Amino acid sequence: MCAQLIDGKEVANNIKNQLRGRIEALKKRGITPGLATVLVGDDPASATYVRSKAKACEKLGLYSEVVKKPAGIPQLELMAIVDRLNNDPKISGFLVQSPLPAPLDELAVTLAIKPEKDVDGFHPVNVGMMLIGTPGLLPCTPHGIIKLMEYYQIDPSGREVVIVGRSNIVGKPMAALLMQKQKMANATVTVAHSRTRNLAEVVRRADILIAAIGRPKFITADMIKEGAVVIDVGVNRVEDTNLEKGYRLVGDVDFDACFDKASYITPVPGGVGLMTIAMLMYNTVSAAENQNK
Ligand code: GUN
Repeated sequence: MCAQLIDGKEVANNIKNQLRGRIEALKKRGITPGLATVLVGDDPASATYVRSKAKACEKLGLYSEVVKKPAGIPQLELMAIVDRLNNDPKISGFLVQSPLPAPLDELAVTLAIKPEKDVDGFHPVNVGMMLIGTPGLLPCTPHGIIKLMEYYQIDPSGREVVIVGRSNIVGKPMAALLMQKQKMANATVTVAHSRTRNLAEVVRRADILIAAIGRPKFITADMIKEGAVVIDVGVNRVEDTNLEKGYRLVGDVDFDACFDKASYITPVPGGVGLMTIAMLMYNTVSAAENQNK
């Protein structure tokens, strides 16, 4: 078997094109959706993500603001920025790029964001709403993965989904979404992680595998079932002295080895990452609509 490639660029463009009409309608009413991103410190990967988010806003005609602060910013000053963005009418939604440098308190920051402006979907109110199946703003990466599957008509209903990784950003919310009694869900969900016994055996049960562990090429071909759908959330930088930038991006899945065994597979880059940004735009537009009902 040879897998069909899941093209994140195509699906992300499709989502963003669908947003254009909604953005136009808002603009006719004098409303421009606005996104602010807060970047603390100088982590190069975080800086890249923030740049991509601002660029996506620009391309869609959204207002965007990047707030950059040094790693040593006092907690109170960061909280004051959150407070300002909560009350700025130009800002429909905002996010504070994670991880925050120590000793900053990330949970305190998340709790301070108004749930209706929490376009990451990280506030416990939004997490709770998602869990009970009455979503407010959904977390971008898991929602983007649902959209990818929907586009390729991969219905998880009744199938064995194995998620490897239990982070608050991907693993846990992905499980919550896929176990719902609703369209593009109804899956039998297993969440595996670093303490899972016989991990390879558990992963081999997957009709749909979602790898979000953050370890390059962790999922090898022997760990996947013939015909499995393989969704790779990993974005790992590995040294590559042949490239000018000195690194290349590698997923959590050994793509080349799994390509012949899977039915569908996402590439890295060009897969899930593009969907995360598209869904952030989606949440920003939804937030603007909800605030102007
Ligand atoms: N760090 C890695 N992914 C994300 C994300 O989706 N949102 C934020 N705020 N930080 C991140």
